[in-house]
This record gives sequence, structure tokens and C-alpha cells, in this order.
Amino acid sequence: TLVQKLLARKDGVIYRESDVPDYELPELFDTRGKEKMTAQIWKTKRRGEILELFETHVFGKSPKRPHALKFNVFEKSSTALNSTALRKQVRVSFTQNDDGPGMDVLIYLPAKAEKPVPLFLLLNFRGNHTVCDDPAVRLTESWIPNGEEANEASRGKRSQRYPVESIIARGYGFATIYCGDIDPDYHDGFKNGVHPLFDNPADGKRDPDSWGTIAAWAWGLSRAMDYFETDSDIDHTKIAVLGHSRLGKTSLWAGATDERFAMVISNNSGCGGAALSRRCYGEALKRINTRFPHWFCENFQQYNGNESSLPVDQHMLIALIAPRPAYIASADQDLWADPRGEFLSAKYASPAWELMGLKGLGAEQMPPLNTPIQNGHLGYHIRDGKHDLTEYDWQRYMDFADKHLR
Ligand code: GCU
Repeated sequence: TLVQKLLARKDGVIYRESDVPDYELPELFDTRGKEKMTAQIWKTKRRGEILELFETHVFGKSPKRPHALKFNVFEKSSTALNSTALRKQVRVSFTQNDDGPGMDVLIYLPAKAEKPVPLFLLLNFRGNHTVCDDPAVRLTESWIPNGEEANEASRGKRSQRYPVESIIARGYGFATIYCGDIDPDYHDGFKNGVHPLFDNPADGKRDPDSWGTIAAWAWGLSRAMDYFETDSDIDHTKIAVLGHSRLGKTSLWAGATDERFAMVISNNSGCGGAALSRRCYGEALKRINTRFPHWFCENFQQYNGNESSLPVDQHMLIALIAPRPAYIASADQDLWADPRGEFLSAKYASPAWELMGLKGLGAEQMPPLNTPIQNGHLGYHIRDGKHDLTEYDWQRYMDFADKHLR
């Protein structure tokens, strides 16, 4: 609304293209002027350099797979969702202790499809039981924001965002994890969630490049992948990792750090996700790092209002997914997430695919509303409407998956 726009201007939020500062992006193919970038140099050198820059300055460094990791399929049914799906619920324990820290993975697989099946993996915001109204889904015991409780009444509360039936009908599996099982989404100095299992600095002080909450969530997605590798009903070579908003920032980081993910999808991920930081449009770094100081590593704070000195920008994050297919999506009313900045990021990431002889985005201009670009290895759409994950978005992701995961 007009009032919101005026208030935003007062706070210095940029919502007009003409207010975007001039900027120069760090070079994707920087070889210090020595050689010409080749697919080989990218693979053996440049990709690793960029990954390390993101670890050091943006998301923080995550631990490896713990030795003690354990999987327990604690519930199973072949007659879920009116017998259209197999359901499995798996407790992934991060330590030897079954009752200790861990996460529940809720999985639906199309009953009729030939196994193993490809699947979409995503984190959810409020608990696995909010994803659909299936009474067999275990209620989360983890903390939920806004004083919400996990109870019978909250089953399926957020099913709008998760069209499980349509996904099953198109022959894909669906797997989800509550992000709060991995790390509750509030700043407590990294005392709860998965961080204290691996962080034990001698002086009690964390390093400025210690992993934040987004990195922890991405680490959790990799632990789900560890499980998929053991499940013969699931094609672990065809897992698309998807996320909306803060969880879209997370799916990008998961795809960058774990090359086992075959496809990566960012839905309205905005600042710190697909949007270029240097545009300072919408949210921008100072706001995100102030409101959510736990999401990124401490080093990221030094770029608040100082975006031009970042050694990376977000097109480089998307490029880390190449040669695997990636899809970036925006919504036209979601100005906070900078739709144009998300498109440009995809456009400037595109040379990474081209370097490998693949078609990247293949578009110079933003497409019209609801007109997906999907004929290369990098997809993009901007749909009409608000910040959300909708049936329209899902259908486009499945169209893209039909081309690359079948
Ligand atoms: C806030 C935050 C965004 C984030 C969003 C979400 O709006 O500022 O960065 O993407 O929440 O996760 O829904």
C-alpha cells in the first residue's frame, strides 16, 4: 500500500529502480588475469575458491557428517493419502542417543510409481504435521515460533504451500523436515539446536566464520540425503532440494555445499538468497543481519551498508550449482525480496553453465508475469502475487524436473 511504501522510504528501504546504487559485481570467472577460464579451471579451482568465500564471509563453516548419525524408520504405511502414497517417517539422530538431538523426515512416495523415485526435499516452517492433515504424522516436539503449539488442531494448517497430492499425482516423492528440529529460528547465542553438538570453542567464543542457522538447516538437508542414500525406494541421484524464503536461502546453500543434490530451487529467497546484495533493494544486509543475527556468520555483519566491499555476490552462489539444473523464482508483489535482483543474479550466474557447454538462462530481459523461462539448465519465473510458495510455483518446478530428472 501507499502508506507502507512511504514508511519504507522513511526507513531508507529502496523500492524504486532509480534509487538502486551503481555497482560492480565481483567477477565470476576471476583468474587474477592469468588464464582464460575453462570448465577444468572452474571445476578444480575457481568453484572451490568461491565456495570458501561464501563459507568465510556469508554462511559460515559447517561440520562434516557425524560418525554417530543414525536412522530409524519409526513409522510406515502403504495406504497413506487414500492409498495413493507410501508414507515413511524417519528419525535421524545426530548422536548415538536415540532420544537426543535429531530431526524427523516425513516422506510420501507415489504408490504406483516404479521405484526408486525422484523426490522434492524441502524444509518447512512450523512442523511436519502442518504440511497436510494426515493424522499419522508425528507432532513435532521442537519449539515453534509465535507461541504456536503442535496439536491436532494445527494439522494441515499450512497445507496450502505443500500440494502433496499433486506432487504424488505427477509421480514425484515429497520429503520434508521441520527446520526447528535442526535449529530453532531465534537468536540464543547458538546454545540450542545442532550448533552446540559440534561447537566447543575453548574460550567460549565462536569464530567469526562459525556456521549460522541457515548453514545448520542446510547441513540438516544433507543429513536427509545421507538417509536417502540408504533407502532403495528413493532415487538419491534425483533429489531436488527446494525452499521458500529463508528456507530458499537455505536450499541454495545446501545445493552449493552438497553436490549430491541433483536440482536446486529457490522460491522467493531474496536477500542472502538469490537476490544481488549490491542492489541494496528491499531488505538489504543491515536489516537482515539486525533482525536475524543468527542466520549468517558473524563476518557477514561487516558488510552491513557496505555491500560493495563483499568479496562475493549472490550470482556466484547460484553459479556453484552448475552444471546441475537450478531454478530461481520471484513474485511481483514481493518487493522485499527484490524480484529483479533475483532475476539478474540468475542471469549473471548463467555463464557457469555455458562454460560447461550447457544452456544457462538464455534470456537477457526479465520475462513477463507467469511466463517461465525453462529451456536451459537455469530456470526462472516471476508470478503475480505475494511472497508465498503456491501451486503455480510447484507446477513449474515439476515441469522443470520432468525435463531434468526423468
Ligand atoms: C523475513 C526476512 C526475509 C525472509 C522472510 C521469510 O521477511 O526479512 O529475509 O526471507 O522473512 O523467510 O519469510
